[in-house]
Amino acid sequence: MWGGRFAEGPAAVMAEINASIPFDKRLWRQDIRGSIAHAEMLGKTGIIDRPDADRITAGLKQIEAEYAAEGVPVNLALEDIHMTIEARLTEIIGPVAGRLHTARSRNDQVATAFRLWTRDAVTEVLGAVSELQQALIARAEEHTDTILPGFTHLQVAQPISLGHHLLAYYEMFSRDVSRLHQCNQRNDECPLGSAALAGTGFANDRDMTAKALGFDRPTSNSMDSVSDRDFALDYLMAASQIALHLSRLAEEIIIWASQPFGFVKLSDAWSTGSSIMPQKRNPDAAELVRGHAGRITGCLNALMMMMKGLPLAYSKDMQNDKPPVFEAHDLLGLCLTAMTGMVESMTFNPEKMRAAADSGFSTATDLADWLVREAGIPFREAHHITGAAVKLCEERSCGLADLTAKDIIAIDERVAGYDLPDLSVEGSVASRTSYGGTAPEQVRQQIMLIKQTNRL
Ligand code: ARG
Repeated sequence: MWGGRFAEGPAAVMAEINASIPFDKRLWRQDIRGSIAHAEMLGKTGIIDRPDADRITAGLKQIEAEYAAEGVPVNLALEDIHMTIEARLTEIIGPVAGRLHTARSRNDQVATAFRLWTRDAVTEVLGAVSELQQALIARAEEHTDTILPGFTHLQVAQPISLGHHLLAYYEMFSRDVSRLHQCNQRNDECPLGSAALAGTGFANDRDMTAKALGFDRPTSNSMDSVSDRDFALDYLMAASQIALHLSRLAEEIIIWASQPFGFVKLSDAWSTGSSIMPQKRNPDAAELVRGHAGRITGCLNALMMMMKGLPLAYSKDMQNDKPPVFEAHDLLGLCLTAMTGMVESMTFNPEKMRAAADSGFSTATDLADWLVREAGIPFREAHHITGAAVKLCEERSCGLADLTAKDIIAIDERVAGYDLPDLSVEGSVASRTSYGGTAPEQVRQQIMLIKQTNRL
């Protein structure tokens, strides 16, 4: 394709280091779409003759059918998907195939194909995130009144509703959805027609190709067009953040499934056994989601490091943009599907959760708040009195809900004359009615609002 000025062929390893076809063959559909749009534009503007454009388009459609049926042939000598397709086009329609590359370069060609691929990838991920969100909502709705301990420092802090806990993840994934939409909003410009870096002297119609490929407009600067990979970085950043959220949820599932917790039992479909310990049921899927999150973030780092030192415009380093994006995309797809499956099918153990919530004097804040609200005691003193009440419970090996008014009055007589609050975990959860709080009625309202505003 480019050997005109060369007397010798490349060294064997040169062909190997140079070739991207083993991985960029994945862009074949997008490359053919871009080429058809380009050929149509060349024919329409008269840059090439209409019949030639028609033959090119027909040949490309034939290649599309061939690849769909048989896959993409890999020949390292053809370097990349762009040359592979052009070589096949030449076999099918003869030398007229050579007119397709008029007024373009592989630099704008690959940027266009990769942008198209990334847009499709983002749309795919949006669907998968939405399925996970629906699973979270369904489980939250089932468990608005199920109580588990809320933790800070992984120490029992205050009792909360399981539905509330699950909705926290729904919120994280909502922000991810908005980030994904932003990826495609920014990736709405078409670089095709920028040629190698400087634009072209042919009277091309870049608006036409941009529209034909579903972009809002052509890119504004030919140098930026061929050297920009922000769209890929945007996607990897969004993917990394999704992976990070998935990893936190995975970590909780792993902890919850551990026997001392026993909050949750994973379904058979999402567990594995041990080859030596017959009793084992391991949360491998959750562990791999946690592990894959690191790899996905590694992909983001790889592309950032690849781009950071490149002068304008295109450099061959940029061919390495695709493996990390493809890898991150594939891993993310697995993680989202596995997480949705786990969330849908895991069985919660409300008794274990409630018992854990009832440990560690988790309603102590309720007592302190009550001392402030009812007895008018300053919070710092209320904190102190409650500490004494906790100490008393420890001595008696009982819970806060077991103390009587007399017990509290013995600690501080200002409490005399007031009825003690409900210090059960149910009473505590039900009392947290502030907007966005954990009271089941609030959780139900949040679910209703999510459904109403169609944030699913
Ligand atoms: N395979 C190359 C890539 O993916 C295509 C662009 C080649 N351009 C060039 N000037 N050699 O980046």
